[in-house]
Amino acid sequence: MLSSGLFAALVGALAVQAAPPSLLKRQSITALSTAQISAFKPFTFFASTAYCNPSTTLAWSCGANCNANADFIPVASGGDGASVQFWYVGFSPSQASVIVAHQGTDTSEIEADLTDVKAVLGTLDATLFPGVSSSVEVHEGFRDEQAKTATQILSAVRTAISAHSATRVTVVGHSLGAAIALLDGVYLPLHISDVTFRTIGYGMPRVGNQAFADYVDSHITLTHINNKKDPVPILPGRFLGYHHPSGEVHIAESNAWLSCPGQDNTSTQCSVGDVPNIFEGSTGDHDGPYDGVTMGC
Ligand SMILES: *[C@@H]1O[C@H](CO)[C@@H](O)[C@H](O)[C@H]1NC(C)=O
Repeated sequence: MLSSGLFAALVGALAVQAAPPSLLKRQSITALSTAQISAFKPFTFFASTAYCNPSTTLAWSCGANCNANADFIPVASGGDGASVQFWYVGFSPSQASVIVAHQGTDTSEIEADLTDVKAVLGTLDATLFPGVSSSVEVHEGFRDEQAKTATQILSAVRTAISAHSATRVTVVGHSLGAAIALLDGVYLPLHISDVTFRTIGYGMPRVGNQAFADYVDSHITLTHINNKKDPVPILPGRFLGYHHPSGEVHIAESNAWLSCPGQDNTSTQCSVGDVPNIFEGSTGDHDGPYDGVTMGC
């Protein structure tokens, strides 16, 4: 006869064995609280506002998007929405942060770009990115987009920091704008010290290789928020050498915001597992809604 202790141990072992792997995984993927989700909302509006014409963001008169962050003080805006994505820089008193925002592009265009065989990886410009190892490679298209506005953004951020004695800078963007924001998130701290940087991307595609993802993880505070079955975050494919940094938050079908640990987490609760290929993706999810905010001006 088994001692009750041994019996309990055996049952315990069986119970552990019987638990489906998905249940075991679920234990370390955590849901954000309502308060944590709400804290992203001003930044979600800032990312959406980047779709507005620069003349309206410079005056901070762009309707609902601007009204959502009514106390914002713009410093500079630019881009033409065609060869250069719109962008703006300013200061948010309520977030106590300089904000840098980049416009994205429409869903069909970014999908076409990213499934293109020309998703070539290349090294970063040594003048813009001094000291970054040449093993770090990024999508050349994204790299060239970021380079178009880099020095203008840097000077506007410096102006905003000194005008408002700011100690924080937050870079945001959606879609292509998230890719540019991530590169700005790497670039700006190489030229500005003594402030805290944070990057928040929405529907962000993969931007670089494994070395880039590792660089981001060790140098940058990043959150990238992916909505349901949006296919953009799984592009360009890992088979092309692309890799996501950590910091994914995946909005599930239940509207729970799930924090996914690690890089490119393959759990079905996270983007890579939920959208195994673009045919199972839903392009309509790319623009949101992200906690009620749909990207666009
Ligand atoms: C994915 O998340 C699970 C928790 O569910 C964690 O145990 C695992 O290490 C993560 N995978 C990666 C690749 O980081």
